[in-house]
Amino acid sequence: MIKLLVTGAKGQLGSDLKDLANNIPDIKFTFIDLDELDIANSDKTNNYFTSNTFNYLINCAAYTAVDQAETDEENAFKVNALAVKNLITGIQASQTKLIHISTDYVFRGDHNSPYPEDFPTDPQSNYGKSKLAGEEEALRYSNSMIIRTSWLYSSYGHNFVKSILKKGQENEELKVVSDQLGSPTYSGHLAKAIMQIIKSDMKKDISFTPGIFHFTNMGVCSWYDFALKIKEYTNLPCRIQAVPTKHYPLPAKRPAYSVLSKEKIISTYKLNIPGWEEGLRDCLKRLNP
Ligand SMILES: NC(=O)c1ccc[n+]([C@@H]2O[C@H](COP(=O)([O-])OP(=O)(O)OC[C@H]3O[C@@H](n4cnc5c(N)ncnc54)[C@H](OP(=O)(O)O)[C@@H]3O)[C@@H](O)[C@H]2O)c1
Repeated sequence: MIKLLVTGAKGQLGSDLKDLANNIPDIKFTFIDLDELDIANSDKTNNYFTSNTFNYLINCAAYTAVDQAETDEENAFKVNALAVKNLITGIQASQTKLIHISTDYVFRGDHNSPYPEDFPTDPQSNYGKSKLAGEEEALRYSNSMIIRTSWLYSSYGHNFVKSILKKGQENEELKVVSDQLGSPTYSGHLAKAIMQIIKSDMKKDISFTPGIFHFTNMGVCSWYDFALKIKEYTNLPCRIQAVPTKHYPLPAKRPAYSVLSKEKIISTYKLNIPGWEEGLRDCLKRLNP
């Protein structure tokens, strides 16, 4: 039986993968999170892999508190970079295939057309720097596939969609930035794409291809457009006002343009990626079936 480990299993993506696992009987899934194993701890991680081996590892564990990372650089690097090194040390003897998740924040964010995978990186925040360092660790291992994604949200955890739904009930007006462009990604769709990639490899249909890939939902919008769509789909009673980023200062710099090109993952794995509006509808259905 094929064995697959998911780290960061209680996060957004990990939880959506767990939902899919129930319908995939030919894979034995193991889901772990910080309470079972701190992957930033080298000894514990090494010990774990001496008694547990896997065919695939999906690393969804991360330090994702983008603003907090500006004053907590050490822990961001521990979880986003050192932990990747620890995982690879643990899995290399069994040649486990690693799918590691990364981010659009590795780019400078001031380009004006979708970033291909080989576009020069230049992260502007500690979070982005720590994620890039994690990519560099992953690329040292020949069985690593890195999937960069952006604007991830889910029916699980804390995210923009859930925050707009909550604040839109509590306030008459919300101010949302309109000068940052990107592609929202429903983590349920990313989870499906990852499992399609693994199943294609298992069937020897399309083999696992190491290297960097980009995955988001299709289409481009601003956070303001995204908020308007949430309001439209849920009949939120509040008004939504567009504001520039400079009116909403945050500790970590956000990319103004973070659209990732999906051409490589689509052509390699024959994926059919839904648009961001469909992602939003699917997420809202899960929140309010
Ligand atoms: N969220 C976004 O907008 C976004 C955008 C682009 C890319 N990404 C990337 O997508 C991936 C999945 O993100 P997500 O939103 O699903 O993340 P998430 O919801 O924050 O989940 C991450 C999980 O990792 C766990 N974790 C943290 N430190 C750990 C450690 N030392 N050992 C083991 N587990 C640990 C967390 O536990 P605790 O909660 O207890 O800390 C949490 O359950 C990440 O690689 C992230 O960088 C996210």
